[in-house]
Amino acid sequence: MQSKGKQILAVWGSPNSGKTVTAVKLAMALADRKKNVMLVLCDDICPVLPTIYKSKAPIEVSLGEVLSAPNITQEVILRNSLAFEKNSYLSVMGYKAGENPFSYAEYKKERAIDLLVLLRHIVDYVVIDCSSILTENIISTAALEVADTVIRMGSCDLKSISYFMSILPLISDSKFDADKHIKVLSHVRQFQSGDEYKNAFSGVSYTMPYVQSLEEQSETLTLFEELTNKTAKGYGLIIKAITKEAFGDE
Ligand SMILES: Nc1ncnc2c1ncn2[C@@H]1O[C@H](COP(=O)(O)OP(=O)(O)OP(=O)(O)O)[C@@H](O)[C@H]1O
Ligand SMILES: [Mg+2]
Repeated sequence: MQSKGKQILAVWGSPNSGKTVTAVKLAMALADRKKNVMLVLCDDICPVLPTIYKSKAPIEVSLGEVLSAPNITQEVILRNSLAFEKNSYLSVMGYKAGENPFSYAEYKKERAIDLLVLLRHIVDYVVIDCSSILTENIISTAALEVADTVIRMGSCDLKSISYFMSILPLISDSKFDADKHIKVLSHVRQFQSGDEYKNAFSGVSYTMPYVQSLEEQSETLTLFEELTNKTAKGYGLIIKAITKEAFGDE
């Protein structure tokens, strides 16, 4: 198997900061390059799949099956991932409705790393929607360690600041390369200048605007559809700029 360049992008940050929405849109932008993309949804406390993936039949596959399999193989991964009818370059894996952290046997960090390493060989790009609760979600912590690029999402609220004050010391070890994270301030509304928050986060590289149609998409299970209106254009340009910073033009 050939060794490839940068491939793994982890989206991490404070609760409710737009990690899932951003991970979906980044994965879609990468699939637009006609490259195979796997979106990994790590949250096992509030499974994300049933909140973003429209399925005619009940979903019977799970990321939990992969992480608890005796051997993580390409076959196990493909069997537990879902493809999109409308976009053959995009696949997704995550926990299914009703699952919780006790649904599967415990797994160690090495397992999560095995999965991420194998994904590098199976697809061109891996986008990981991490859980904010790093202390409870091993695959998210592993993702922060092995990702080529980490997007750190924060929002304009005191809870977001409080979250980073508590959690950043937990990833201060050099293996996390936390100072290389790409910092993003998310869903900034027009009345918010965002400057105070940019300072509180010691500067950010990108500021994403609040886009009403995006919120509507995430409330109506249509996040995988294109955003068409004018206000979403600026948002789309930022998504493109982040993919370019993470992976170059192609
Ligand atoms: N740019 C945006 N414009 C408008 N609304 C947004 C934007 N980004 C995210 N949102 C909204 O903010 C809320 C939180 O987004 P999302 O679920 O992606 O956050 P999260 O960080 O994944 O949350 P959690 O910590 O629960 O996993 C959702 O209602 C979503 O629609
Ligand atoms: Mg989320």
